[in-house]
Amino acid sequence: MELLDGKLVSEKIKLEIAEEAAQFLASTGRKPHLTAILVGNDGGSETYVASKMKNCEKVGFQSSLVRYDNTVTEAELLNKIREINADTGVDGLIVQLPLPKHIDPEKVTETIDYRKDVDGFHPINLGRMVRNLPCFIPATPYGILLMLQAYHIDTTGKHCVVVGRSNIVGTPMSILMARNANPGNCTVTLTHSKTRDLKEQVLQADIVIAAIGKKNFITADMVKPGAIIIDVGINRETSTQTKSGYKLYGDVDFEHVAPKASYITPVPGGVGLMTIVGLLKNTLASAKGEIY
Ligand code: GUN
Repeated sequence: MELLDGKLVSEKIKLEIAEEAAQFLASTGRKPHLTAILVGNDGGSETYVASKMKNCEKVGFQSSLVRYDNTVTEAELLNKIREINADTGVDGLIVQLPLPKHIDPEKVTETIDYRKDVDGFHPINLGRMVRNLPCFIPATPYGILLMLQAYHIDTTGKHCVVVGRSNIVGTPMSILMARNANPGNCTVTLTHSKTRDLKEQVLQADIVIAAIGKKNFITADMVKPGAIIIDVGINRETSTQTKSGYKLYGDVDFEHVAPKASYITPVPGGVGLMTIVGLLKNTLASAKGEIY
């Protein structure tokens, strides 16, 4: 079993990004600029956005955080998005999800200018991704592709089983793994909460991508010996053993699955760190006008 080391790979790619950001600054006189909007005080969202902002600084990007409390109206939020769309000094704009119930996430996603949509959630980016055209690929799936690339894993012809069909991870991941590209060229099965024979499906997988949001959901009896295991889960539980007051668990029962796997991502230290890299790469590409 070999660990897919998100720390190692993400640090290496961030060095490359920092070099390119420095070149960009030297030639344009400005830094690539990511703006994030955070609504409310969700613990997970606070942590993720703080990490995105910190990593921007690390690689020499400008970062801006716009905060609203839970009571912000949808109209107010959409107006702020339009204002940032029009700001030529901003390359990338993300609105951290989830949003409070009174705000329609679809409206938010479609209001963001697709040319600044470095989350890759806008229907134009999604459609272009399906058609294998230049686009922003959602950060977590992008990070997973970069991880597979970093370890020179040939995915061609393999059976990839994706567990979970979210807009953010499962659905785009299933499309990317089936595309005529590398990584890609897999036979893909997209499974979800209504899948009848989930264990039998996952047992067929050469590559398992677990993005279901349930602690230790993928157990050793569901995994074929030698499978590649990608664990997207970030399940937070309060803990008295850690400084932060919580502990993270993946969607995979790492202790029992790892001995059967050929490659596996740990949690923490796996996909989560690669997600940030995906976002940074999209922001840099946007600044450089490489996609639109
Ligand atoms: N919430 C969970 N993952 C993401 C992400 O990749 N982007 C945004 N904006 N919100 C999220």
